[in-house]
Amino acid sequence: MRDLVMRDFQARYGREPELVVRSPGRVNLIGDHTDYQDGFVFPIAIERATWLAAARRTDPLVSVASHDHGLVDLDLLEIERRGDWSDYIAGTLRAVGAHTGFDASVRTDVPVGAGLSSSASLELAVARAAAELDGRDWDPRSAALAAQSAENDFVGVPCGIMDQMIVAAGRRDRALLIDCRSLDLTESTIPQSVRIVILDTGTRRQLAGSEYEERRLACEEASERLGVPALRDADEAMLRGLPDLLRRRARHVVTENSRTVAAAAAFDAGDVAEVGRLMNDSHASLRDDFEVSSAALDAIAEVARRHPGCHGARMTGGGFAGCAVALVDENAVGDFIAAASAGYSDATGHVPTLYETRAAPGVRVESSS
Ligand code: GLA
Repeated sequence: MRDLVMRDFQARYGREPELVVRSPGRVNLIGDHTDYQDGFVFPIAIERATWLAAARRTDPLVSVASHDHGLVDLDLLEIERRGDWSDYIAGTLRAVGAHTGFDASVRTDVPVGAGLSSSASLELAVARAAAELDGRDWDPRSAALAAQSAENDFVGVPCGIMDQMIVAAGRRDRALLIDCRSLDLTESTIPQSVRIVILDTGTRRQLAGSEYEERRLACEEASERLGVPALRDADEAMLRGLPDLLRRRARHVVTENSRTVAAAAAFDAGDVAEVGRLMNDSHASLRDDFEVSSAALDAIAEVARRHPGCHGARMTGGGFAGCAVALVDENAVGDFIAAASAGYSDATGHVPTLYETRAAPGVRVESSS
């Protein structure tokens, strides 16, 4: 990918890039729909990534050529919404206060709409490059917050902080327990005996924006009725008085927070069977209480669990379509991928894509001249 994006840059701009940035996607092992209620998440950055090659210009313009989306030209002195993919770039440049114009080429192998955070991956690629070219210090937390505000306030997607934090701060071979209230990060080593497999159902999210917002609002209503700052501060006993739908939505968040903290502790203790059980419970809660799974996600998680080498499997990210994640015995990965692919195709007629990923480092400058 690095060579390809450098070649894209040379072909388009007729000069060498000054720097190449690699910005990963992410997969969340457990802890979904908790981040916007100040809760806990436990993601890793993945090997699939967005690559951006860039070099300074002498005027305050930014030109970005995306391999998938075409060319966009932006004026740093007059950043406006366009209502298309370039808003992720424009919003990030505005949020970080970028002032140096540059040319850039972008490529990614993070699929869009699959729950692997292609948008956070693009945002942090832009933020990292802009920091380097402006000569500003790099701080993963403030970059993540700026990228989230670009997405919330400029693009108009009301996401939480998980995706931007893990893309900014991911660590090789570590999962991070992120406290989404304090933004404290606690690293867990992924036990040697297991591998992380991404199971892409091949289905893609469409109207998820409005459903996502609807879930967020339900959680806000529940926390208001309970008189707590966020559902992070609630326990199951407090939920009894809530109307049925709100109670189920809130119960997901409350129980998911406990599962997530427990999963991180079990990982540290090397108890992968327990992590697997918690992942399975998380899927059931997202499916039944929070209602953000889909037939395809349920099918792939179920097929995955049937394999004896699989410790646990669950949908990951916002839901409604896209990917699941499984924890698989290191010796069983090849067989697991073959069996689960075939089982899912038989059950649904969709063609899935299954692959192993290591936990990758967060966004970084891979080379500069
Ligand atoms: C999306 C959002 C995140 C998070 C997840 C669900 O990925 O961008 O902030 O809320 O959904 O866990």
